[in-house]
Amino acid sequence: MTELNMDAFWMPFTANRHFKSAPRMLVSADGMYYKDDAGREIMDGCAGLWCVNAGHNRKPIVEAIQKQIATLDYAPPFQIGHPKAFEAAEKLAAMAPKGLSKVFYVNSGSEAADTALKMAVAYHRVRGDAARVKLIGRERGYHGVNFGGISVGGIAGNRKLFPVALPAVDHLRSTHDLSRNAFSRGEPEFGAEFADELEARITTLHDPSTIAAVMVEPMAGSTGVLIPPKGYLKRLRQICDKYGILLIFDEVITGFGRLGADWAANKFDVLPDIITCAKGLSNGVVPMGALLVKPEIHDAFMAAAADRAIEFPHGYTYSAHPLACAASIATLDLYQEEGLFQRAAALSGLFESKAHQLQGVKNVKDIRNLGLVAGIELDSRPGAPGARGFDVFLKCWEAGVLVRFTGDIIAVSPPLIISEAEIDRLFAVIGEAIQATA
Ligand SMILES: Cc1ncc(COP(=O)(O)O)c(C=O)c1O
Repeated sequence: MTELNMDAFWMPFTANRHFKSAPRMLVSADGMYYKDDAGREIMDGCAGLWCVNAGHNRKPIVEAIQKQIATLDYAPPFQIGHPKAFEAAEKLAAMAPKGLSKVFYVNSGSEAADTALKMAVAYHRVRGDAARVKLIGRERGYHGVNFGGISVGGIAGNRKLFPVALPAVDHLRSTHDLSRNAFSRGEPEFGAEFADELEARITTLHDPSTIAAVMVEPMAGSTGVLIPPKGYLKRLRQICDKYGILLIFDEVITGFGRLGADWAANKFDVLPDIITCAKGLSNGVVPMGALLVKPEIHDAFMAAAADRAIEFPHGYTYSAHPLACAASIATLDLYQEEGLFQRAAALSGLFESKAHQLQGVKNVKDIRNLGLVAGIELDSRPGAPGARGFDVFLKCWEAGVLVRFTGDIIAVSPPLIISEAEIDRLFAVIGEAIQATA
C-alpha cells in the first residue's frame, strides 16, 4: 500500500495525522471477518460501525443490489415514486413496533435525527400549537453530527467547535451512575428517578406547553454504552404523555436486534411517538435511515395542507434511493429468515458472562451489557483521557480484532451471526489487550 497517496482524503472522526503515519486498511470482508492490506483476518467486533448486523458480504443483499442497479439505478423521490420504496416501507412498517405505521426515509442516522426534530416541531404547528418549539435531549446523547443532532445531543467534544447550536434546547442528566450501578448485568437497578428531572426541573423551567419533544437513545451507544436503568424509559413516557410532549427514540444503534429484540421500544415495552433508525436498516451496505411515525402525526400533516400542497417540505435527493430500498428489503428478509434477533437474544447470556469475566483485569472500572452489546470502561491515565482506550483499540487491531473506543470505554457490538467460539475469542483478545496496556 506504500504507493497509495493519502493526501486528499480528509478522514471523518479520525486522528488524520496519526492514521496517515500508521494506516490501518481494510480491503475486503466476509461474514465475521475483514481482511487488511497485509492479508490478515480481522474479526469484526463492532459490526462495522454498529451497522453490519447480518455480517459482511451476504449473498441475498449483494444480489438484490446488483439486480436493482441494473434495473433502476436512480429515481427522483419528489413527486415521483418507484415500487421498491413502497415495498421497503411496507416491510419496515410491518416489523415496526405496533402503532408506528408510517415510514419516512432519509440517508443516515444524522439525517434521521434532524428530520425527527423538524417533524416534531412542525407537527405541533400544523395542529395549531405553534408555541411548542423547545427540544429536550440528554447529556452524553449522540444523535449524529448535524446541527439539530449536536444541539439536542450532549457530547461535549462534538459541540465545542460548533458553538452555534439550536437555541431552544435543554438537556436531561445522563443516567450514568457508577457509584450505584458499576458492573451491572443488563439493566441497572438504580436511576429510574433520573427521568423525574424532566418534570421537576425542565418542564417547570420551560413551561411544558412550549416543549415539542424529548429525544433520547433508549441505550446510549456512541457515548460508551449506557444501559437505561430499570423503569427509566417508562417514566419518561408517562411524563411526556402528561404534558403533551412527543417522545422520540433514536434507535439508530438499538434497532434491528442489537439488544436481543427487534427494537428497544419492544424490549423495554415503551412506545415512543417517533423512532429514528439507520445502520442495520440496510445492513450498512448502502446508506439509509428512516423514521417510524405514529399515524396521528402523519395524519395531522395531511389534514392541515391544502389539496396538491406538499404537506411536509422536507426530503433529500437520495431519500428512498432504489439501491438502499433493495438492500433494505433483502436485509429485513434475511434478519427474519435467519432469526437473527432471536439468535442475538439466545447468545446474550454467554456474551454477558464472557464480558463480565474481565472484571478484575487491571484498570477495568466498569462493565455493562445488554443483548449483544457491551461497554468496558477503563480508568483514564492521569492527564490523558482517552489514551488508554486508544491503546487498547490498537492492541486489539494488532491481535486481529476490531473494536470501537470512545475515550476510555471499549464498545463491543459484533454482527449477530457471531458464534460462541468467536465470542470467547473476542473477549479473550480484549482482556489481553487491556492487560498489556500500561
Ligand atoms: C444513536 C445514533 N444516532 C445517530 C447516529 C448518526 O448516524 P450517522 O452516522 O449514520 O449519521 C448514530 C451513529 O452512530 C447513533 O449511534
